[in-house]
Amino acid sequence: MKSGSGRWRTCSRAGSWVADLQPGRVVGVGRYAVGNAGGRYFAVTRRCRHLGADLANGRIDENGCLVCPWHQSAYDVESGRMVRGPQGVFAKIPGLDFGYRMLTRVLPLGRAAVVERDGDLYLEH
Ligand code: FES
Repeated sequence: MKSGSGRWRTCSRAGSWVADLQPGRVVGVGRYAVGNAGGRYFAVTRRCRHLGADLANGRIDENGCLVCPWHQSAYDVESGRMVRGPQGVFAKIPGLDFGYRMLTRVLPLGRAAVVERDGDLYLEH
């Protein structure tokens, strides 16, 4: 990871992101929701495939999935696929859960690699 390579960009502000990203936390960095799922950093694009909520305001569940703050869809942060569809009133709509899970097989959330080095985090995108 060499500076000026144009491939890696820092998402750290004087190391503060590392401190902010304790396990279970998610923050917004540009177009990405960057988080720490059980000690694994991840970065996925921020807009939920359901109705576009900002996933940077989401949370990490007990399975290490990113949960949407609006209707609690859950995403696998490795694949970007929805593993549980929208909940609440949306859970009562036949086929909706299946439909969104299939949609994100074709259109998963975008992903970027996150690397920690010398107290800073970097995104490859
Ligand atoms: S906007 Fe994310 S589940 Fe509805």
